[in-house]
Amino acid sequence: MKLTAAFNLLLAVVLQASSLVNAAAVASDPCTAIAGKLFVVPSQALTCLTSFPYNETIQANVMSNAERVTDFYSFEPFYKDSPPPFQESSVQIREEFSRIRETKYVSDYAFNRDLYDISLSLNDGHTQWFPSCYITFQSLLPTPVTSLFKDGEYNIYVAPDAVELVSLLGEQFTSFYDNLGFDWKRLAGAKVVEVEDQSAYDYIDHLATTQVGNYLDHGVRVNSVYTSYRIAGSAWAQRFGIFAGRRFPDQDYLTMKVIPVGSEEAEKVKVPFFASYLGSPFTDKASFWETNCAVKNTTNGVNYLAGSTPTGRVARRLKLQPIAKIKEDSTPASAVGLPPQYIPTIPPVAGSAGAIKSYILPDNTTGVIYVSTFSPDNFFQFQSDIDAAVKEFTSKNVTKLIVDLHNNGGGYVCLGEFLFQYLGGKSVGYPGFESTIRANELSKKIVAQNIKLGLNASWTFFAPDNWGFLNDTLQPANYNYVDPSVPFSVNGVSDPTSQRFHDTCTSSFNVAIPDTPAFKPENIALIGNGNCASTCALFSTLMYEGLKTKVAVFGGRPGQHIEYKGMAGNQVLDWPALDSEIKTAGLKDDSLAPPDL
Ligand SMILES: *[C@@H]1O[C@H](CO)[C@@H](O)[C@H](O)[C@H]1NC(C)=O
Ligand SMILES: *[C@@H]1O[C@H](CO)[C@@H](O)[C@H](O)[C@H]1NC(C)=O
Ligand SMILES: *[C@@H]1O[C@H](CO)[C@@H](O)[C@H](O)[C@H]1NC(C)=O
Ligand SMILES: *[C@@H]1O[C@H](CO)[C@@H](O)[C@H](O)[C@H]1NC(C)=O
Ligand SMILES: *[C@@H]1O[C@H](CO)[C@@H](O)[C@H](O)[C@H]1NC(C)=O
Ligand SMILES: *[C@@H]1O[C@H](CO)[C@@H](O)[C@H](O)[C@H]1NC(C)=O
Repeated sequence: MKLTAAFNLLLAVVLQASSLVNAAAVASDPCTAIAGKLFVVPSQALTCLTSFPYNETIQANVMSNAERVTDFYSFEPFYKDSPPPFQESSVQIREEFSRIRETKYVSDYAFNRDLYDISLSLNDGHTQWFPSCYITFQSLLPTPVTSLFKDGEYNIYVAPDAVELVSLLGEQFTSFYDNLGFDWKRLAGAKVVEVEDQSAYDYIDHLATTQVGNYLDHGVRVNSVYTSYRIAGSAWAQRFGIFAGRRFPDQDYLTMKVIPVGSEEAEKVKVPFFASYLGSPFTDKASFWETNCAVKNTTNGVNYLAGSTPTGRVARRLKLQPIAKIKEDSTPASAVGLPPQYIPTIPPVAGSAGAIKSYILPDNTTGVIYVSTFSPDNFFQFQSDIDAAVKEFTSKNVTKLIVDLHNNGGGYVCLGEFLFQYLGGKSVGYPGFESTIRANELSKKIVAQNIKLGLNASWTFFAPDNWGFLNDTLQPANYNYVDPSVPFSVNGVSDPTSQRFHDTCTSSFNVAIPDTPAFKPENIALIGNGNCASTCALFSTLMYEGLKTKVAVFGGRPGQHIEYKGMAGNQVLDWPALDSEIKTAGLKDDSLAPPDL
């Protein structure tokens, strides 16, 4: 598969400020009732969230922003008609936008929720509306689930380590259940027969279709519903999964039919949700709005050239590093530690102090590198950690390598390309794909302005010298790569692109690429759960197509199709960064530019 569209959009947004609170409302302020609490009953959280009135001015502003960003910086023509087996991801986005524009909502929450749900249904982890105001209460269940093979068949089970995992949320969470006299601990390891009167797998499918997003492939989204391991920062962690960690406080109970461990009998249980507050501290409705919803100085972008003196300008000295990642589940509940019984007991090899963990398996011939992210704290450390681990493997006669990519949400494009070239050796040549950007009117104007203003790759991402020609020489800073454009059409829609170009990653590698790689390609395997986004998708595709690397994917629903990666991956900018490109190019007043939020 060729990656064709290079830029797309990650909208991470807050809403317009407005003075909403009048004196009469204070008496029955639904947010005061839950202020200062770490965990609350979901319906109480929802009462607070839905108390902010629907405001047509805000709706019009948000929709103008969403429409114009989509015009210029999304995979829009692809959404129209997703090919098999991805039909579930087809969305008529313009019709949905018109419908949302014309709808009068009962609350500001209802408006935002509708736009959020539509953006989620694109299953494009790079194009989403995140109303920071309302992604503030994560609803948790003490029964995270996964699919396990037991007694000769696959079934859904409550995670066998649920007691240890859920206990890590702390007594404030578990005491809710104690107070209700609800014994959640006996559900650990239970076989799940039905959920909300559907078969367990059908209910998992339903969540994968309606509540996960991010990934084109349904099977990969099924794995987001399950609990699974990851690294958070530099520590082992366990994701709750969407089944037990909902983004919105939609319901107070989930009805499950389960067979507890040691029992033969299926029984129905009504498991209470409790919502974890993820926002900033507030005391009432007004301060909730101020802290979570109102526009801040980071909501929109800035003009890097503003300021009359050189020191008044934003100093940028290094070339900008392109990033391709999704907005991951990084909420507290998704990042609680991994219970001790699952932490590897084999001592890690060199280079394992950060985001990468590497081990030698007991056979003494197989090395494992867990690359859980391409967004390490330190771009250069990542490369030296890989190098240190592989050198230790080599010195200990390890000849086979497993690269674990479980829950890798992406990150620096150039680290994906580094790892591919490092494992493939110098002979793989250029370590990326040919790419393009959409060559619509606004992109053309931005590139033209970059050239006119003499902006190079230290200032903007659209600068021509961010990219290379196909012969891997850098495009000069005054080279217009979008004009003339190249005809391109998808799903019957004409959507011209820039000329094809290469990334320029090799200049940012601080570790030497070996002439002869440490492992023969046939001795490398990738494993994961398909939750492998953006740069991870880029890396695994390069490995699979370039080195014919074997790939094994765990999970999914038995009998269903599952991909080894979730999406196409290339560079993305979130709204503030995209807006900064527009402002720095002096185009904020252009009629095509999305308005500030
Ligand atoms: C709607 O929001 C706008 C922009 O924040 C604000 O100026 C206006 O007062 C709000 N309208 C109402 C009725 O609250
Ligand atoms: C943005 O606001 C915060 C405080 O709210 C302040 O500390 C920071 O300096 C501001 N940044 C800019 C670029 O104005
Ligand atoms: C692996 O190496 C260790 C330590 O040298 C040794 O005790 C063990 O027997 C070896 N295992 C195998 C399968 O050779
Ligand atoms: C690796 O192999 C070499 C050559 O066969 C041998 O001399 C050395 O002891 C081995 N090292 C380890 C750690 O097994
Ligand atoms: C961009 O230009 C500035 C001078 O305006 C220079 O200092 C900087 O090194 C250049 N950046 C790149 C990536 O060439
Ligand atoms: C690389 O390609 C560009 C564009 O076709 C061309 O202008 C340049 O001369 C080429 N450079 C080399 C070293 O071949």
